[in-house]
Amino acid sequence: MSDQTQKPDLERLLEYLRESRGFDFSGYKRTTLVRRVQKRMAQVGAKDYAAYLDHLQLHPEEFVALFNTILINVTSYFRDRPAWEYLQTEILPKIIASKQRYEPIRVWSAGVASGEEAFTVAMLLGEALGASEYRERAKIYATDVDQEALAQARQGRAEEKDLEEVPAVLREKYFEREGHHYVLRGDLRRSIIFGRHDLMQDAPISRIDLLISRNTLMYFEAEAQAKILARLHYSLTDKGYLFLGKAEMLLTRTALFTAVDPSQRVFTKVPHESLKDRLVVLAQAGNLEPSNIMPRQARVRELMADAMPIAQIVTDTGGIITAINDRARSGFGLVTADVGRPLQDLEISYRPVDLRSMIDEAHRHRKTVKVQDVERRRANAEPEFFDVEVVPLIDKGATLLGTSISFTDVSGYNRVNRELERSKHALETASEELQSTNEELETTNEELQSTVEELETTNEELQSSNEELETMNEELESTNTELQTINTELQDRSIQLNQVNTFMEQIMANLQLGVAVLDRDLRVQLWNRRAQDMWGVQAAETIGQPMLGLDIGLPLNELAKPIKNCLNSGNGLQELTVQATNRRGKSFTCRVQCTAMGGPDGGRSVILLMEAVEQA
Ligand SMILES: C[S@@+](CC[C@H](N)C(=O)[O-])C[C@H]1O[C@@H](n2cnc3c(N)ncnc32)[C@H](O)[C@@H]1O
Repeated sequence: MSDQTQKPDLERLLEYLRESRGFDFSGYKRTTLVRRVQKRMAQVGAKDYAAYLDHLQLHPEEFVALFNTILINVTSYFRDRPAWEYLQTEILPKIIASKQRYEPIRVWSAGVASGEEAFTVAMLLGEALGASEYRERAKIYATDVDQEALAQARQGRAEEKDLEEVPAVLREKYFEREGHHYVLRGDLRRSIIFGRHDLMQDAPISRIDLLISRNTLMYFEAEAQAKILARLHYSLTDKGYLFLGKAEMLLTRTALFTAVDPSQRVFTKVPHESLKDRLVVLAQAGNLEPSNIMPRQARVRELMADAMPIAQIVTDTGGIITAINDRARSGFGLVTADVGRPLQDLEISYRPVDLRSMIDEAHRHRKTVKVQDVERRRANAEPEFFDVEVVPLIDKGATLLGTSISFTDVSGYNRVNRELERSKHALETASEELQSTNEELETTNEELQSTVEELETTNEELQSSNEELETMNEELESTNTELQTINTELQDRSIQLNQVNTFMEQIMANLQLGVAVLDRDLRVQLWNRRAQDMWGVQAAETIGQPMLGLDIGLPLNELAKPIKNCLNSGNGLQELTVQATNRRGKSFTCRVQCTAMGGPDGGRSVILLMEAVEQA
């Protein structure tokens, strides 16, 4: 079995439409699509999709009828008028204000059907810009996938009843009467460019300031809607507006657009950041001459040591002090004259920490020795804390040259640390409480989240039912229009029939021959006035009765056979002359002509013409 035959029949039908006519209905809402196709199937008497596909292949003219049924073209001027009023008062002025006076204003009505939407926006733009600016600046692209609808739109014609929603001033200003209908004025019409465009397949029109896509998206499934919306997003300028139909709300779920006012169906585009790589290179050139640096090196080193935030003492390998920095002098009671003395002679060598053992260890292992949080207490003062570091100074050739001893004041840090400890404890308690509150919040949040999700689902379901209802409404409107047309035709036909009937009745009434028309069972169908006069029996007494059973002065026994012959043979005219008795009981000679004819139900009928040839 091929792929083709394994597909459900509807899918095969859709594929056939796509391949043979380029119409892709796969993104349309299934429920609507099925209803519309089945409507056509019922009309051509196809019992299933496969039979309908066969029918389409044999009768290509059915494509037009099918597309007309699927592409519901319901539209009108100022459809959903409050939305147009909002556009007129809130949106058009913003669009115009965002442009230079000479810049074109580009509008796209996508899914314009028979054009009313494009004509509506043209009138509003004409009002907002004034005649001459409108002529110069307005460009309205009006597109649809349906060529037939576009052909109608291009004419720019309207019946009086179509213009009921157009405010009287606008009707006066923008329409001209031509016989029984109205035509849009040429200067308004010239700015509108009609063209075929398939929202699912064709490249979008660009640089659009106002994109009107009303009551069209709702025919598509969510996935196809998203695809179309992405294209519409591309079409709009960054300051452009998207104007949707009353029932179209799915945009609240997309990141591409935001609603201008949630109660209206007008949206602005959320622009995508364009990827602009900006590389800024800042080059700063210094101008230091080596000759300026060299003589000052020693002094710079000295100043650098003094500028250090730690106290530092340097000794040589014999334990003689070779340098004391400023911090060490001020913080540990040392003086410049201590340089050159043995470290072990000074109090600092054993208080606040035993430096001698640290120096021994550093020398022995040739590595830094550290002691942290060494406490020093001075009279009436807060305790101080130091990190003490003894670093062996080793030259490139691994020769030990001396020792650096540094004291880093960590008192502030320690105080903060203790504070931190206390705070930490308090925080831990608070944190536990917070944790439990957090968990409660989390649970509440999750419950809320799930309620929100439920609400969103319900909302989407409602939304989709709403769109479904709106679609059905449009279908009903379209069926209603069809029925009204049929009704008008039937009324015309009925008037014509009545006229023919009256005409026939008058002929029958004025004939000087008695006329009786019999059906194939020889029951009377027609009995004219002269027949009533001849036999004294009213039409009401004879219609529907068997002719041969009538109680009249005609010798029906004699006539029975010729009448049946005439009926059965279907040809020829039988003519007989019989003796009859009129309604006053007088005898007279009567000529009876019997003619067969085709009856309305396809069977035969007989006409009897009765004439007195000799009066009694
Ligand atoms: C109900 S009408 C809406 C007309 C008008 N926008 C309004 O709101 O009054 C829907 C229109 O969408 C058109 N349409 C359907 N599918 C389309 C497609 N893929 N691309 C462009 N137009 C499409 C139909 O031909 C029809 O004219």
